[in-house]
Amino acid sequence: MPSSIRRIGVLTGGGDCPGINAVIRAITKTAIYKYGLSVFGIEDGFLGLIEDRISELTSIHVSGIMSTGGTILGTNNRCNPSRHYHGRDEQGEPVFVDATDQCIENLKKRGIDALMVIGGDGTMSCAAALVAKGFNCIGVPKTIDNDLVGTDLTFGFITAVATATDALDRLHTTAMSHHRVMVCEVMGRNAGWIALHSGVASGSDVILIPEIPFDLDVVRDFVESRMHHGRGFSIVVVSEGARPRDGETIVKMHDPTSPDPIRYGGIGAYVAHEIGAHTDIETRTTVLGHVQRGGQPRATDRVLATQFGYHAVELLMSGAHSRMVVTQRGVLDDVDLTFAANKQRLVPLDDGVLLAARAVRTCFGDVAPETVGRIEQ
Ligand code: F6P
Repeated sequence: MPSSIRRIGVLTGGGDCPGINAVIRAITKTAIYKYGLSVFGIEDGFLGLIEDRISELTSIHVSGIMSTGGTILGTNNRCNPSRHYHGRDEQGEPVFVDATDQCIENLKKRGIDALMVIGGDGTMSCAAALVAKGFNCIGVPKTIDNDLVGTDLTFGFITAVATATDALDRLHTTAMSHHRVMVCEVMGRNAGWIALHSGVASGSDVILIPEIPFDLDVVRDFVESRMHHGRGFSIVVVSEGARPRDGETIVKMHDPTSPDPIRYGGIGAYVAHEIGAHTDIETRTTVLGHVQRGGQPRATDRVLATQFGYHAVELLMSGAHSRMVVTQRGVLDDVDLTFAANKQRLVPLDDGVLLAARAVRTCFGDVAPETVGRIEQ
């Protein structure tokens, strides 16, 4: 049966990441060239939808953006239409209103039949509120953190890992020269995927991830033994959400107006201090921060983003409602959009990359690496 869809909207929500523009390009060109649709770009995520900042996208607008970082539409990780920040009351407390009807009204008045939502778990939960009111949304999974439930891979992750790996490689040579412990803090929120993959790719000696609370004594013993009996330096990659076994995750700031109000940061400096203060080893900290989110996407992310964008339009035109494009074991598929809302895919303790890292005696801070999985002959 031919689809009744004639006009679609596109928005990018949450933090930006490399490859978003490639998705916007794929959605727009597929929609226009293959199906003759009109495409409307919404500025700055759900905020632009509430504020009615919407304009038509043509193939010219998306030409030449494949290799660019960021998002041509702009994005926002502080806006949730169901709980939209509306200033402060007389006591100075933030006031929130439900702006989902406003979003739907702004879409409908332009005749937009469905919305393509490019984002992470927070963005999918915002979209789920529109779906609950009968407006069709199709999700495309985006985040450098790679923590979306239902998909093995989100675009942006591979580029972020490449950026972090490049930084860790550089730290390696200076660590060797100065016989230091170099601690590098990477992003990832509550999931250790970036730390795990960049740590393995760079041959880092210690990898600390949120899924494995660490014991500082184990970390110190390990780097001391490398200092005195091994290579005389160590590289420690620590995920921003990692925490000591007997301590808390370090919160850098709290933004009550944001759907995900907590921002992590500071664990790298803490680990470096705790190593340096109790040993004679010189330590330094590097925080990679938003460098991991910026810049050109790697070729693999561009390809994945293009497949996701294309598949999202195909899904919509085949009559799908409230689905999110995913890739599972290398095959494109889709799951219910609400499946990914407000959940996180963490690193399982039997993850293959993690086990491979343990086998080469990478320290995860829980136990001395030489005690892991040794089979006596
Ligand atoms: O979710 C992507 C991410 O970069 C996280 O890794 C990080 O914790 C967070 O966003 C940072 O958010 P902001 O851009 O608001 O500082």
